[in-house]
Order: sequence, then C-alpha cells, then structure tokens
Amino acid sequence: MAKNKNNQSIWNIRIKDKPSAFFQKVGSSVDIDKKLYKEDIAGSIAHVEMLFKQKIISFKVKNKIIYGLIKIEKEIYNQKFKFNKKYEDIHMNIEKRLFQIIGEEAGFVHTARSRNDQVITDLKIWIRFATKRINTSLNKVIQSTLNLASKNVYTIMPGFTHLKNAQAISFAHYLLAYIEMFKRDKRRFNYSLESLYENPLGAVALTGTSFNIDRNYTTKKLGFKKPTNNSIDTVSDRDFVLDFLYNISVCSMHISRIAEELIIWNSEGFSLINLSDKIVTGSSIMPQKKNPDLLEYLRGKSGSAYGNLFSMLTILKGLPLSYFKDLQDDKEIVFKSNDILMNSLKIFDEVLKNISPNKKRMIELTNSGYITATDLADYLVKNQSMSFRKAYQKTAAIVNLAEKKTKKLNELTLEELKTVEPKLTSEVLKVFELYNSINSKKSYGGTSFGNIKKMINKYKKQK
Ligand code: ARG
Repeated sequence: MAKNKNNQSIWNIRIKDKPSAFFQKVGSSVDIDKKLYKEDIAGSIAHVEMLFKQKIISFKVKNKIIYGLIKIEKEIYNQKFKFNKKYEDIHMNIEKRLFQIIGEEAGFVHTARSRNDQVITDLKIWIRFATKRINTSLNKVIQSTLNLASKNVYTIMPGFTHLKNAQAISFAHYLLAYIEMFKRDKRRFNYSLESLYENPLGAVALTGTSFNIDRNYTTKKLGFKKPTNNSIDTVSDRDFVLDFLYNISVCSMHISRIAEELIIWNSEGFSLINLSDKIVTGSSIMPQKKNPDLLEYLRGKSGSAYGNLFSMLTILKGLPLSYFKDLQDDKEIVFKSNDILMNSLKIFDEVLKNISPNKKRMIELTNSGYITATDLADYLVKNQSMSFRKAYQKTAAIVNLAEKKTKKLNELTLEELKTVEPKLTSEVLKVFELYNSINSKKSYGGTSFGNIKKMINKYKKQK
C-alpha cells in the first residue's frame, strides 16, 4: 500500500523520479488557486458528509476529516499554512496537510472524487460569489449615476450623432442611458448563474463512480440547484468561465465607452464637464495640465478584459474532451478579469462623484449647429399638414438661409422664415426654444423632463 509520507508526492510509488525543479515551478498552480481554499474546504466537507450518509465512510472518519479541514481553514485564514509548490495545487496542499493533522484516515477524503470535478466545483462556487460582489458594485454605480441624474434633470446639453450636434437632450437622460447599460450587465451576470448552479461534484475524473454517491445531497449542501448531467462534459466544460469573462468584457466595454465620452467632454474643445482634482493628474513638463488619467485607465482596462476572454477561448479551441492541464490556466484568467472589473467599477463610482456639468458651456454648445431643425420639421408636419419629407426639405432650406445669414435658427425673423414657407406664423418661434424641444419628446423612452422624472422614480423604486 502506498505510504503517504508527508514529504512525498501522492504519486511517488508510480513516478519514482522527482520532477525537474523547473517543471515543478511552472506546473504548480497553488500560488494562484490557493484563493479557492474556502470553497475547496466547503466542498470537501460536503463530500465527506455525503460519503458518511451513503455509508461509504464511517462516522469516526468523517468527523476526523471535518475536524482536520476546519483546522486547515483556520490555518490558511490566519496565514499559518505553509503552501508547497511540490504539491501542485490547493487541493493536494490541503490533502497533504490533512494527513499531517489526522493521519492515515485522511486517505478517505478523496474517495469517489477527483481533482477534475473538485476544481470546477470550487471555481463555480467562487464565481457565484464573485457574481454577487460584482452585482453589488454595479448597484453602487447605478445609485451614484442616479444621484447625478437627479440633480441634472433640467441640465440641457446637445445630444450627438456622429459626434455632431443632433438634438437637444437633458444631461440626466444621457446618464440614465448608462443605468440601462449597467442594468443589462447585471441581467447578463444573473443569466449566467444558471450554469453556475449545476453541481460538477461526482463527475469524478470523467466517468462518474462505482460508489453509491448522492449527488443531490452535495448539490444542496453546496448551494447548487442540480447535478450536472454528463460526467465527461462536466470535467471538460469551461463555458461557465467563458460566460463570466464575456460578461466582464461587456461591462468593461460599457465603462470604456463612457470613459471615452467623458474624456472627450472634458477636453478643452468640448468643455462640457469638469473633473474634480481628485480624479486628475498633472504633467511632468506642462504645469497647466489636469489630465483625465483615471478615465484613460478605465478605457484601457477593457483591453485586458477582452484579452482574457480571448485567452480562454483559445485555450479551449481544439482541446479534446476531457481534462487537460491546459485548463489549469482558467483560474488565473478568471481572477485577473474579476479584479479588473471590480477595480473599474470602484473607480467609476469615484468618477461619478467627481464630475460636474459645465452648464453654461452645455447650453452654448446646444445653441449651435441648428440643433432644433428637426423640431421645426416636426412642427411643419403637425401645423402645415405637410408630409415629413416635404417638411424636411423646407427646414433644410431654412437652415441654408440661416447659414447664409450667419444666424442661429432662433435668430431668424418671422419675415425671413416666411421667405421659405409663407404660411408660417409667429407661433413657430417657440420650436426653437431648447426647453420646448426637449420637453416635446414625450414618447416612451424619450428625453422629456416628465419622462426623466418618471424613470428616476422607477429606478429608485427598483433598488
Ligand atoms: N490544478 C488542476 C487545475 O486547476 C486541478 C485538476 C488537476 N487534474 C489533473 N488530472 N491533473 O486544473
């Protein structure tokens, strides 16, 4: 029988030579997967409880193992645990330590289990909690966006298409668009919980087991909803990792788009928003500078998030079923992406508390670029019984006239307007007022002030 002397690897009977020092160094993952120690111990406790319930191990052995595992958890938590690269990963480090604490009976813990199902059980539980933490951070960001929006319902700014003035909008309406993006992110993360609720434990190496295990029992104990269906697929599957990485990528992309926008709006050319000193940095040579570095950091980080998604996709591409060492890299990628997003959300929340609209400049810019032209066209349809295309052409002619006279639309006199459309009355002049323009967009989802207030209340109630 194999004697598990504690300084030897588990497979020392079969593999006589030690691995090369270099192989040991690169092949070990414990520096990374030790992050999973809590999940690993919870998984082992549920597993031995199940083994006892199914009469596969004795009461005494179960209790000894649980005692040892709880002790190990405390040791790791208190940083008293010595991780050893020689034992490759968190699973074997814990098993080895269990032998030291309780002796040979530790050998029962790995009955009807393999590291192949163990590692993904740990990782799925970890991602489930990470998803909850991300959702909490997203809620904070949504709340901060909502606070800023509440203060800016009547802050008028230009809405852009192609980065050219399009139609007047409320700054709050713009901010509420971000809330929709973040709400979709939350929904996306929550959708992915479905596969994270499928319990891999019991798939063992790839075939399942001849022991009479009860997978429903561990499913319940570990907060899963059902056992996975196919043992081969179970140990091969990393789709749940891809889902997580994709969700992170999309959320980072949202943050990156917003960051880019704020960078543009903060530039001297636009000057639509101010950033407080807390979120800018200076230049080593240009004394006047206040640079939006933090926003640039956010924009850049999406690149790393995408990179991680692509790494995982590439690792999986062409990989036959079932377990291969290639898969070991999944955890590093997951942890890195998670850190990226958690940091980005924290930073973005900070940004939201440190930006303020430059209201004067916003109005000034809104008043340029014939921004109420569409309002005029709509007015002509409604009041002069014209088709929209006809009204569009009339309005274009009026814009040409304003351009020729180097006037804004609201600076044209009624007489000048009448040279294009004689039937116009002074009533038309009200369509050039920005407030009216915005407030007329009462269609559901539009930028009217009433709509915005309703939406703000709705979001507040959803919280
Ligand atoms: N550390 C390994 C990983 O993360 C655990 C699974 C190892 N299984 C094996 N058959 N080598 O992928």
